[in-house]
Parts: sequence; structure tokens; C-alpha cells
Amino acid sequence: MLQFIRNASGPLPVLRRIGTLATCAPHGAQGDLHLVPNAALAWDNGLIRWVGPERELPHEFQGWENWDAAGRLVIPGLVDCHTHLAFGGWRADEFEQRIAGRSYQDIARAGGGILSTVARTRAAGTTVLSDRAAHFLLEMLSLGVTTIEAKSGYGLDLDTELLLLRIYRRLAGDGPVRVVPTFLGAHTVPAEYRDRRERYIDLVIRRMIPAIATERLARFCDVFREDGAFSVAESRRILGAGKAVGLVPKLHADQLTSGGGAELAAEMGAASADHLECISEAGIAALASSGTVAVSLPLASLYLDHRPLPARKLIDAGVPVAVATDFNPGSAPSYHLPFAMTLACTMQRMSPAEVLMGATIVAARAIGVEAVAGSLEPGKAADFAVIDAESVNQWLYHLQPNACTMTVIGGKRVHPVSN
Ligand code: NIG
Ligand code: FE
Repeated sequence: MLQFIRNASGPLPVLRRIGTLATCAPHGAQGDLHLVPNAALAWDNGLIRWVGPERELPHEFQGWENWDAAGRLVIPGLVDCHTHLAFGGWRADEFEQRIAGRSYQDIARAGGGILSTVARTRAAGTTVLSDRAAHFLLEMLSLGVTTIEAKSGYGLDLDTELLLLRIYRRLAGDGPVRVVPTFLGAHTVPAEYRDRRERYIDLVIRRMIPAIATERLARFCDVFREDGAFSVAESRRILGAGKAVGLVPKLHADQLTSGGGAELAAEMGAASADHLECISEAGIAALASSGTVAVSLPLASLYLDHRPLPARKLIDAGVPVAVATDFNPGSAPSYHLPFAMTLACTMQRMSPAEVLMGATIVAARAIGVEAVAGSLEPGKAADFAVIDAESVNQWLYHLQPNACTMTVIGGKRVHPVSN
């Protein structure tokens, strides 16, 4: 009967002639991709039914519609677990200033940096913000990205923070990219509260967090723990207030200075601690014991010309290391996750296999979607990308503008959109 129903709605697809399939199943070491050579992948109703060597494809899938991978590499849809997706304007002027030697902090202290994007975001209007974000998502999915996390944090007033999160909710509903929202009202203290930071923290805790919880607009609450942004004590209060209403903590930690960020992330049971360029030995030990994911953001290290996080030390200590873009108009103005992955290899000395795990199943864990995304296993969403390379090494070594020849989300081809 089941077979009859399937046939009645047309043959279901099986992807065949996969040269190498990386399942990225979560067990084993970070570098263990669980590769299947000469593989096939079958899905039904948006979920993976079977994955394995093509010669072992069970009889029940033999009559299904064949999709041809032509010997290419197949990976789980990429997960970009740290983006600041919606913002107004750009900051190319600051790019030039930093090249000339001015520091990121100096620019921020003079009213540039995050605050200049806040002004442009508040002025942009819903349509512009949401059309731009939708455009970025389309570009991302053409690169093989199927799930992203998206932070607010360029509104920094109640209405604009809610607006950014509502835009994310709409984009998530429209699909096809899966969008996981994070509230980052504590990105920095906005200009109008410069001399009243306590009042701003009150606004975040008493007005923004409750409103977001009531509307269920975010899954995570993030804070920028940094000199010039928020102290450890302030971050603890804000994350605690979020946690009390069900927002899981995340933290921008130890990016520009070593300030107890990783330790706080561990203490709060954060899902992830992100950046970590300046993480201390104590911070590494704290993350290792809390099970918090370390999110590496090599584009931010590249653009700010910072030494990257100590990925090898973290992995050796047993901390899972994700790789994400940090896409934002200041420190990481690119959504090119495969480029960030290549940088994670060269700058962070992670193997290509560790990096692919870092941008799939480890990233999925950093944003709480590991039960549905991040690996190619029966029962998970049929989200995958076909990559024009013979191996993961070849893909991340020979950086092409776009090596992704097909992206599938929930069993449906979303890139390219037509033949
Ligand atoms: O993750 N570090 C804080 N926030 C962003 C940068 C934001 C900006 O410069 O606009 C980051 O790097
Ligand atoms: Fe960030």
C-alpha cells in the first residue's frame, strides 16, 4: 500500500553515483567524517531513508527516480552557526581605515563600528532590511549552506530589535534556508545610553527579553563580552535573565581581549562560546568540562588581522570546534562559508575533515539543531550539497568561487533553481 501511494505521487528520488559521501555522523573524533565511497542516498517526504554504498542499495529503492551525482563529493548541507544577517549599510570606509593602521576598537570608540551600523539599520526600514537578508540567504544557499543562525543586535532599541527578529521569523517561515534566531540586544551600549549604561541593561533585561520570550522570537540570547561592550558581571546578568525565560545562552567571548568570556560561557551552560582568539588556558579547561562548543570565526581574524583562536589546543582538550562566517558589515563582511572553511585549515591548522565537521554537525550542535541537521543519517532532514571535487581535501584546497553544483533542502532541489 505504501509503495502504491508513493508511485501514485510519482517516483521518489535516489541520488546515485556519489564519488564520496561524507556522512559527518557525530560519533568519533572531530576529524572522522565517516566517509562512504561510491555511495547512494535515498529520501522520502523530506527525510533521509537510506545512505550507504550504492551496490548495497536495498531493492525497495531501486525503482526510484535516479539523480546523478556524476562521481562528485556529497556533504551535509552546510550550517553557518554565527551570522549577523540583517543590517543596514556597509562600512567600507572603516576597512580602509584599518588597513591604514587604525584599530577596530579605536574606530568603535569614535562612534564608528557597531554604532554606525545601528544608525543605518534604524534608518533602513523593514523592506530594505528584509530584502537584503533574503538576498544574502539566496547567495548562501547557492554555496551549499542550508541552515544558518541569525543574530539581532543592530537595532539596540526595543522596536528595532523586535523588527530584526520578526524579519528572521518571516524568512524562516518562507524558507527554504533554515534560520535559527538569536537575540543580541547586548551587542554594545547604544549612543543614547552612553552615560546611562545601567539603564540600557535594564531595558534589555526588563523590556526586550520578556517581549522576545512572549513572542517566541529567539532561541538563543547572546552578549558581546568585551571591554567597551559588556563586562563579565553584566553579561552574567543578561544571560541569566534570558535563561530564566528559556533563551539558551551564547557568548561573543575573548575576541579582542582575554576577559573571562570562555569561563563565563561554561559557567552559564552556554551552547557555544564564539571567537575565542584570546582564550586563556583556564578558559580552554572550562569549555572542555562544560561541553560548550567553541565557534571559530576565521574571517573575523583575517579581516581584523588578529591571531586566530588556538583550535589545535581546543580540539586536543576535547572541545568541539565549529567554523562559521560571523557575516557582519564590520569584522567579517562575507557570507562565503567555504572560504571561511579554507581559512580555518590554513590559519587555525584544522584538517579539512575537522573543518567540514565544524561547519556541519558541530555547527548544528552549536545552534541546537543536531537532531535534524548537520549529518546525513536516516531520519534526518534531506539537506545536502553536491560539490564539484573528488575529495574534501581537494575542495578546500582548490578554492573555487563556487564548487557547489546542487543544494537540496528537505529533499527539494533549491540550487540551481532550474535545469
Ligand atoms: O562578531 N564582535 C562583535 N560583533 C561582531 C562585529 C560587529 C561589527 O563590527 O559590526 C563580531 O565580530
Ligand atoms: Fe559575531
